[in-house]
Amino acid sequence: MSSDTTAVPETARIQTPYLVPEDELDRSLRPRRLGDFVGQESLREQLAVAIEAASARGDALDHVLLAGPPGLGKTSLAQIVAAELEVPFVQTAGPALERKGDIAAFLTALEPRSVFFVDEIHRLPRTLEETFYPAMEDHRLPITVGQGAGARVVTLELPPFTLVGATTRTGLLTTPLRDRFGIQARLEPYAVDDLAQIVRRSAGILEIGLDDEGAVAIAARSRGTPRVANRLLKRVRDFAEVRMQGVVTAPAAQAALEMLEVDELGLDRLDRAILRAICVKFEGGPVGLSTLAVAVGEEQDTIEDVYEPYLLKEGLIKRTPRGRAATAAAFAHMGLQAPAPGDQALF
Ligand SMILES: Nc1ncnc2c1ncn2[C@@H]1O[C@H](COP(=O)(O)OP(=O)(O)OP(=O)(O)O)[C@@H](O)[C@H]1O
Ligand SMILES: [Mg+2]
Repeated sequence: MSSDTTAVPETARIQTPYLVPEDELDRSLRPRRLGDFVGQESLREQLAVAIEAASARGDALDHVLLAGPPGLGKTSLAQIVAAELEVPFVQTAGPALERKGDIAAFLTALEPRSVFFVDEIHRLPRTLEETFYPAMEDHRLPITVGQGAGARVVTLELPPFTLVGATTRTGLLTTPLRDRFGIQARLEPYAVDDLAQIVRRSAGILEIGLDDEGAVAIAARSRGTPRVANRLLKRVRDFAEVRMQGVVTAPAAQAALEMLEVDELGLDRLDRAILRAICVKFEGGPVGLSTLAVAVGEEQDTIEDVYEPYLLKEGLIKRTPRGRAATAAAFAHMGLQAPAPGDQALF
């Protein structure tokens, strides 16, 4: 079944995504089948129907684009699609594909109907995007053989396959590439109920004692993200084992998360540093992303991909044409006095 052992150039093989490296925890807690995948109901339903139809016809599934912030389940879903289709799963990432030959090596080695997963597809070199067009549309791969006057184009026939692309930034994909995905989905931050269910499932797998209030306390501070929920669960377990009686209850979760400097909205130290910088240093903003990044000592990409989506969702910051600005809710959350309307910079 799932195998990523197809012969491919070593350089094109990657183990870890760019922003948040996959670790043992992610692997052990990863849902394996659609039935284990919590939340995202409409996407799950859409995939279930498409998978069943493709399987019944014996066709490859349409190409799938999964977009959304880190840790919401893009890689998990890609693997689930392969598992449900009962086809091999072959994985690479945009930055690992440097030459046309890298793509050719992958695609020509695929077994029919395989899932070919390209993580961070927005980081695929622009010049290589076009290589995918005929491959996605007609299972053809024209390549140039030889050089100069003797050069000729040879078209390789490819097996039918399903390209599953994952991206934290749909905005960076070109329209022609995006349009070639028959199924396009955006993963949304999870509701607290869904996260609590994920926490309970993970506690079961890791054999952690947990009560319902404990699950909800962790879920509420997980910034809508399953990966964060699983991480917090592990940290809270450590705390419960050392300081409490080993069972993760709401008081144990609250005490542990306080110690970890995760506040009641799930904001961590960097989230608060971002808010504080905008509110105090830049007097509420707007402030450009690059300036903000320097002020808090973090990469722009990390702020934009990892931190900003949740701060926006919670209504703590807003994006304006001139940069990021703090809302009244941000001032209130930070216990700061919002500038009087007259003093406030015009958004
Ligand atoms: N719907 C879900 N149900 C249960 N667990 C989930 C779900 N989504 C994600 N997880 C958990 O969160 C972890 C992270 O998910 P995953 O690696 O699929 O996210 P991702 O979107 O690929 O993130 P990245 O952009 O960083 O690559 C998984 O290992 C899994 O434990
Ligand atoms: Mg991933």
